[in-house]
Amino acid sequence: MQKLITLAIDTSCDETSAAVVENNIVLSNIRPSQMQMHKEFGGVVPSLAKLEHEKRINGVIDLALKRAGKTIKQIDFVAVTYGPGLAIALEVGINKAKELSIKNQKPLFPINHMEGHLLSGFAARKSKIKLKQQKALESWNSLFDTNIYPALGVLVSGGHTELIVVQSPGVYKKIAETQDDSCGEAFDKCGRIMGIGYPAGPVLSDFASQNRLEVTLKEEKRSQSVVITAQNKKTLEKYELPIPMYYSKDLNFSYSGLKTAFQQLVVNKTNGTMNLNKQQILDLSVLFEQVAFRQIEVKLLKALKQYNPQEVWLGGGVIANVRFRSMVRKITKPLGITMRSPFDQTLTTDNAAMIGLVSNFSKAINKKPLETNIQIQSLERDPSRSL
Ligand code: KG4
Ligand code: ZN
Repeated sequence: MQKLITLAIDTSCDETSAAVVENNIVLSNIRPSQMQMHKEFGGVVPSLAKLEHEKRINGVIDLALKRAGKTIKQIDFVAVTYGPGLAIALEVGINKAKELSIKNQKPLFPINHMEGHLLSGFAARKSKIKLKQQKALESWNSLFDTNIYPALGVLVSGGHTELIVVQSPGVYKKIAETQDDSCGEAFDKCGRIMGIGYPAGPVLSDFASQNRLEVTLKEEKRSQSVVITAQNKKTLEKYELPIPMYYSKDLNFSYSGLKTAFQQLVVNKTNGTMNLNKQQILDLSVLFEQVAFRQIEVKLLKALKQYNPQEVWLGGGVIANVRFRSMVRKITKPLGITMRSPFDQTLTTDNAAMIGLVSNFSKAINKKPLETNIQIQSLERDPSRSL
């Protein structure tokens, strides 16, 4: 198969990212984070994100080309995330990509950010080792192999919680999404309630893994809901949270109720002061993570029954969580379902390499690049899009 090389750009949120990707091989993936700056505000500030993207974009693109050992002349396509994301942040990447495409006469692929997360498990590292090169090629070729379809995408990030059925190469159907907050957002909000900084996901999950053995977890069915209780083995302090959407008939998710229940729990535990002690923070981290992931587990089990996929593809910031991946593996392995996830964290959080991979894949399945009029898809839902 012909080798395709894309220079890709993603400025959908707070990472100014550019990458060079050859088929599915990541030649470079530059992603300086603006996290430190947004941390002060406890979340991403769109206007600041835009300014930072503007400051960094040229340097990031130059570095991506340099690290890949390519000049713009050696690139086949320019690709850019058109959405979903923060509109004013997306604009910076889109304008730059248009400019590069016109100036260098390279076709332009507008790419859906969620398709990037969906296919991120197919990306491979550049390697001089024959066996690894072979594996990378196998991974790329498998994308075009009908035996891996239907596949089920499980996308869990700061902006989205979705299940996608992939019927055949490039044919997607969203079968579930969150009705309000995303799973990653709930991690961040509940972390903020406990005062553990932003983004709280990685810290909270770290606390949970340190403390899991100190806590007894129990799931109980009640008439209207299913709750999980956590009890610290030493202090005997007890906490309880309901699993949202447990009994809902559809596959959709919801996390805003969990955030409210979590906040109420903290109010009750601290008599309204919100000052938890360290042990309580550790215990609550175990409980929150359990409840947040259990909701996905319940829906995933239903979706597997309903759609019978050959593979499960994981993508998005939250799947950096080791426990999340092992939870999915425990379900898929006995069923003989292959689970794919990105090779490391540079591919789970937002990055341009996944966008480059989708661009090469789109070309390989004969999608036409667009030259003009990219429509920005902002985080507000756009029902006309399948992802
Ligand atoms: O995919 P991503 O970088 O951004 C979006 O496209 O939304 O995901 C970021 C999200 C944040 O909410 C962050 O707290 C969460 O991923 N996250 C985690 C972990 N690492 C990052 N959540 C749980 N456990 C983790 N280890
Ligand atoms: Zn993302």
